[in-house]
Amino acid sequence: MSRPFSQTFKSVAVLGTGVIGASWASLFLAKGYHVRAYDPGLDAEKKTRAYIASAWPQLNTLGQVAADFNPDHLTFFASPEEAVKGAGFIQESVPEQLPIKLELYQRIDPALELDAVIATSASGLLIKDLQKGFRDPSRFLLGHPFNPPHLIPLVELLGNDQTNEAAINAAKEFYEACGKVTIRVQKEVPAHVANRLQAAVWREAIHLVSEGVASVEDVDKAMTAGPGLRWSVMGPHMLFGLGSGGGGIGEFCSRYGDSFHRWWDNLGQVTLDTATIKALVDGLRAEENGRDFADLADQRDRKLIAVIKALNEGDTEQVN
Ligand SMILES: NC(=O)c1ccc[n+]([C@@H]2O[C@H](COP(=O)([O-])OP(=O)(O)OC[C@H]3O[C@@H](n4cnc5c(N)ncnc54)[C@H](O)[C@@H]3O)[C@@H](O)[C@H]2O)c1
Repeated sequence: MSRPFSQTFKSVAVLGTGVIGASWASLFLAKGYHVRAYDPGLDAEKKTRAYIASAWPQLNTLGQVAADFNPDHLTFFASPEEAVKGAGFIQESVPEQLPIKLELYQRIDPALELDAVIATSASGLLIKDLQKGFRDPSRFLLGHPFNPPHLIPLVELLGNDQTNEAAINAAKEFYEACGKVTIRVQKEVPAHVANRLQAAVWREAIHLVSEGVASVEDVDKAMTAGPGLRWSVMGPHMLFGLGSGGGGIGEFCSRYGDSFHRWWDNLGQVTLDTATIKALVDGLRAEENGRDFADLADQRDRKLIAVIKALNEGDTEQVN
């Protein structure tokens, strides 16, 4: 299938400007696009402009602001139909509820430009269900970010047999031009790829706390001072390939396969029941040690920006 999706558009539509949409809007503006927004929420425009004002210095520190960045290139519209007019790319980030997304898609469908591509930020809803909102679903795909999308590079791309390959390629090109790192999810599974990896690690982190193996604080420290640090540089396969001492991942598997099989057999299943949640709340309160939400969020963002900056500066070759 081929369809000429435009690569030269100046306007991007952002539908929904909550946690994720405001962050997307910040990034697209920083990259010099005109952003056409729609969100029926109370004070949505005011909140989005405030978010952009705080995101802009962060993007600037990361060298992500184009010369033609202009915060006035954000326009809010009273309807989604108006917002998508003239937009070559549409990023939908409305609440994770199928009826809300479907109703919105049915409204915008007749107003979309012929060569527009539309991506949903959906974390858990299935493409095959979301596609039902369009008469022609071939231009619709998943473009799943990691919060906050203006800082975290990853975008997961997913289509299915009804999706035009050219739409996925156009989205990939667009996101990468915005500084994102894309991966292609080849088969639809709940939570895509990155959230499954997070869920697997968190399950064992909770299991270790529940079994009394280590405190919440020490499990967190084990991650940030150990594997978490390495994982920001290379993925688990590449790292274990290096762990062979030069023989490659095959050599690593023969050397350590028995150990990993024993460990996998011993990993836990957990449930977020009352007792487990209480153990996490108490443990995290001790780890927070009086620091409030704003302190911790600020610390997270400052460290994250420092890490991304260092990785960008050290990234002289593609390693993973
Ligand atoms: N929060 C995350 O960590 C995260 C990460 C990745 C993906 N996502 C996905 O992004 C999407 C948005 O999540 P969020 O966390 O930003 O939610 P949110 O509740 O913060 O924002 C949703 C926004 O959509 C607006 N809205 C409601 N109905 C609308 C409509 N018909 N048209 C336009 N806007 C409408 C709301 O007023 C609100 O501002 C969801 O699909 C979610 O799964 C969230």
